[in-house]
Amino acid sequence: MNISIIGTGYVGLVTGVCLAHHGHHVTCVDVDETKVDALNKGRAPIYEEGLDTLLQKVKDHLTATTDIYQAIQETDLTFICVGTPSQNDGSIDLTYVQQATIDIAKALKHKNTWHLVIVKSTVIPGTTENEVLPLLEQYTEKKKGSDFGLAMNPEFLREGVAINDFLHPDRIVIGTSDTKSASLLKKIYSSFSCPIIETSLSAAEMIKYASNAFLATKISFINEIGNLCKQLTIDTYEVADGMGLDKRIERSFLNAGIGWGGSCFPKDVHALIAQAKQWNETTPVLDAAVKRNELQPLKMVALLKKHIPNLKGKTIGILGLAFKPNTDDIRESRVIPIVEQLIKEKATIKVFDPKAMSNFQQLYPLLIYCSTAKEVLESDAVLLTTAWSEFSNLDFSQSFVIDGRRFPAASKAKQYEGVCW
Ligand code: NAD
Ligand code: UGA
Repeated sequence: MNISIIGTGYVGLVTGVCLAHHGHHVTCVDVDETKVDALNKGRAPIYEEGLDTLLQKVKDHLTATTDIYQAIQETDLTFICVGTPSQNDGSIDLTYVQQATIDIAKALKHKNTWHLVIVKSTVIPGTTENEVLPLLEQYTEKKKGSDFGLAMNPEFLREGVAINDFLHPDRIVIGTSDTKSASLLKKIYSSFSCPIIETSLSAAEMIKYASNAFLATKISFINEIGNLCKQLTIDTYEVADGMGLDKRIERSFLNAGIGWGGSCFPKDVHALIAQAKQWNETTPVLDAAVKRNELQPLKMVALLKKHIPNLKGKTIGILGLAFKPNTDDIRESRVIPIVEQLIKEKATIKVFDPKAMSNFQQLYPLLIYCSTAKEVLESDAVLLTTAWSEFSNLDFSQSFVIDGRRFPAASKAKQYEGVCW
């Protein structure tokens, strides 16, 4: 099939590369010329494990362009994969989805063959039906059904393991109201070996939000239990293992620590809470999950101050800036509130991350950016904030370490404290 993808961020690019890997011809469209140029030179504009290698393999099946009009004319279906960031009040910002939809529609107006439009961006339930469809009909001057199809196909990949997640998902959700769109999408995913479920457009949208909100709440829950365990000198990880053996609970996403960050859990949970207000509903469970997540990183500073009450002039090392390992993404990283607090306390802050240093430097130019992780160990205390496997080779034996991510090598430190254990 000939497929166009609008937006070449984590989701768009991984979708494009993986569908090209499945033998489809993919045109990636982005408004950002530097991303398009990099892609056409065979380089991934984002860091994602295995992406460059796969990009090289599929280079004859994938091109990139800024020309959406041409891309739509030459393809049979289009995935919308643009960002859906938060507005200041936490609600979803649909500007990019709306603009991409208008651009697609203007091109579709001049196309004579049926075309399928698929929303893959995470959007609030009702968006595809009530925002995307009216724009498509307005700007194409055509009708859904006879002239074009519409589907919602949420994405569940995780950064860092995005390619594996895309190629081997637990499930594929196809939200649509017409059989032609459903059968075309099923054809695209026919070689994937996982359950494919068909739902309404808005159920597909809600499955995505409910999944992210549930996982975020699960982490906040274990962090709260973890704080109680810490008081009682119980190892939370033993508790999580014991709970996780119950098939109704399941062990994953019960790793206690300093909380959840990234480009999605925070924005999606906030968007759902904000939207619930519009629907005149309250969300005490989600509100509490957010509250726990705001407090959790500060537990690390509180532990630090138990040992070093006055941080002024003390050198505090931070190992890991990315919101999780194997990514350079620092969006909503739980390190940010920790750094903010340490700055307030006038500590000297030394940091290292294998991939995320330059992104963090743009936010906090005045920290000491070390060229090796080893240099960070030469501090009054070290906070382990991202569990990069590279850190397991470090000799922690002379350091005081506070571990926010249950990192086995760090437990060999001269002095060691775990956040929830
Ligand atoms: P991103 O910000 O990394 O990338 C979005 C891209 O879209 C950018 O390159 C931007 O230049 C481009 N863009 C914006 N407007 C455009 C337009 N009109 N035409 C062409 N290109 C345009 O976003 P992302 O992380 O890939 O997320 C995209 C969506 O997928 C979001 O809704 C997100 O919630 C969802 N999602 C993300 C992940 C993830 O791990 N990042 C996982 C699942 C779902
Ligand atoms: C998350 C979801 O896992 C994906 O399914 C979803 O597609 C994606 O959001 C999205 O919608 O964008 P991602 O943000 O890449 O993926 O990362 P996760 O691996 O889920 O981790 C999120 C945060 O939770 C990280 O800060 C991580 O350190 C933290 N976490 C995760 C914990 O603190 N404990 C855990 O047990 C698991």
